[in-house]
Amino acid sequence: MTSKNSKGLRKGLTSYGDSEFSLFLRKAFIKAMGFTDDALDRPIIGITNTYSDFNPCHGNVPQIIEAVKRGVMQEGGMPFVFPTMSIGESFAYPTSMYLRNLMALDTEEMMRAQPVDAVVLIGGCDKTIPAQLMAAASVDIPSIIIPTGPMLTGEHKGERLGACTDCRRFWGKYRAGEIDQAEIEEVNARLAPTTGTCMVMGTASTIACMVEACGMSLPGAAAIPAVYAERFRHAETTGRRIVELAKSPLVPKEILTPEALTNALVVLHAIGGSTNALIHFTAVAARLGIKIDLAAFDRLGRDIPVLVDLKPSGAHYMEHLYEDGGLMAVLKELKPLLHLDCMTISGRTLGEEIDAAAAPAKRKVIRLATAPIFPSGGLAVLTGNLAPRGALIKHASATPALLNHRGRAVVFDGLEDLANRIDSDDLDVNADDVLVLKNIGPKGAPGMPEAGYIPIPKKLAKAGVKDMVRMSDARMSGTAFGTIVLHITPEAAERGPLAAVRDGDMISLDVSMRTLTLEISDVEMARRLSEWTPPPMLADMPDHGYRKLYQTSVTQADIGCDFDFMLPKMTATAPLLRT
Ligand code: FES
Repeated sequence: MTSKNSKGLRKGLTSYGDSEFSLFLRKAFIKAMGFTDDALDRPIIGITNTYSDFNPCHGNVPQIIEAVKRGVMQEGGMPFVFPTMSIGESFAYPTSMYLRNLMALDTEEMMRAQPVDAVVLIGGCDKTIPAQLMAAASVDIPSIIIPTGPMLTGEHKGERLGACTDCRRFWGKYRAGEIDQAEIEEVNARLAPTTGTCMVMGTASTIACMVEACGMSLPGAAAIPAVYAERFRHAETTGRRIVELAKSPLVPKEILTPEALTNALVVLHAIGGSTNALIHFTAVAARLGIKIDLAAFDRLGRDIPVLVDLKPSGAHYMEHLYEDGGLMAVLKELKPLLHLDCMTISGRTLGEEIDAAAAPAKRKVIRLATAPIFPSGGLAVLTGNLAPRGALIKHASATPALLNHRGRAVVFDGLEDLANRIDSDDLDVNADDVLVLKNIGPKGAPGMPEAGYIPIPKKLAKAGVKDMVRMSDARMSGTAFGTIVLHITPEAAERGPLAAVRDGDMISLDVSMRTLTLEISDVEMARRLSEWTPPPMLADMPDHGYRKLYQTSVTQADIGCDFDFMLPKMTATAPLLRT
């Protein structure tokens, strides 16, 4: 009879009404793969396979899998590789975020359905590790995350460059007529010179750092380049450790406590991390009944300096962070701000891991806390009549002079409207205006695409304008930069106040006061919203399929954009603030 405590092949027996027959049948079929009874009696370790020809960020997954399998067998376990969805950022229509929850469901249900005692989850590209962590939090069996690791950098005219901060920078130059077709094509061939994840502090690197900080991967996991031998030695070590965890379980709920999530959020601020990471960790925490309090997250950041000099906030790349000692070397600097007693999947506390790690080797990218690259946390939470439930700005990557700005709204109703008019010579726009994009939030787009990096109108770009205040209910790539307000909540397609903004309205942004204000009266706001009609993409919503499920169930950014039916009752909050 299968039970909650069953192990190995006896776990989760297929229902035939006779559990011993179910086991007999299961063994008969799996023996077709050549397994002996001895092999099948060992702890069974699931290893996710997210390799896909459409996902170059996961190009090294087959090698990582082989290394994990070696480690599992060295420790007496039996590895079973199984496929799950794989999401590559630039190969996901309409946007990868639309598919994150589907990957989380897929991973979660396959972890439940198959008889695995513990799981190694190999991910990398932006949405994959968040989906895997959401799944692990829900299933709550011993799990370790292995990031695929960052790409190495390329070179162009004597300058180091990489995906994808430099993709945007060079594309901006091309739009402004500063470089020609031949040069942009040359750059295109050099931006991603190896497999692996984007090598700046974009979403993938940010998530990998936060996962290491909260103890769900072994030390060193975040920064080892994807193609280094060390990446595969790390995978082999993870393979050995996961077998120990299968024998002596330590589960995600014991690791992902409010204290551990606070550590991850401290790191998010200190590395100048991606805005997307806040949404993803909000979703992970919510799976555990922990609510991420945006006001507390903002307060937390006011005392945390940005210490890591990586693009897009700084100058360098992930391979330089690796050479400096990786995330553990950053955590040494942050030690007074961390909860050091948190248990990690290594079986040691975070404090013990930090003490065991080497000090920064070169200090090329890791600054001393006394000499940060930005004095307070990389992200700020804004509220006001335009964003009653919050909005986010990565002020570490913004133009300082624009952080307190008042300007005239130039409004685009959606992506099509933006594409049709942004480069028109007739567009009435000046450098001091505020570009506003509506209807691209979780429901509106759907999937909250990374379209918040609204391009500078061509005529202004050609005149030398590099940055403007831009705002939307969208997300933005973690590799992007500029004075850009994101995640305005509730979104326009939910009849949020963003829907009420009209051309010519005055908007004021004051990051020091954390406010975002549409300068109209409450009465006028109410009147405009009472006249609101759903945008066409909602009116045309299909009445079946994943699109229907997504649009009727996805939550807003402040809750993590998970499906509402996946959320348990919230019983705790994070981050925890020191008094
Ligand atoms: Fe996959 Fe950047 S596109 S990590």
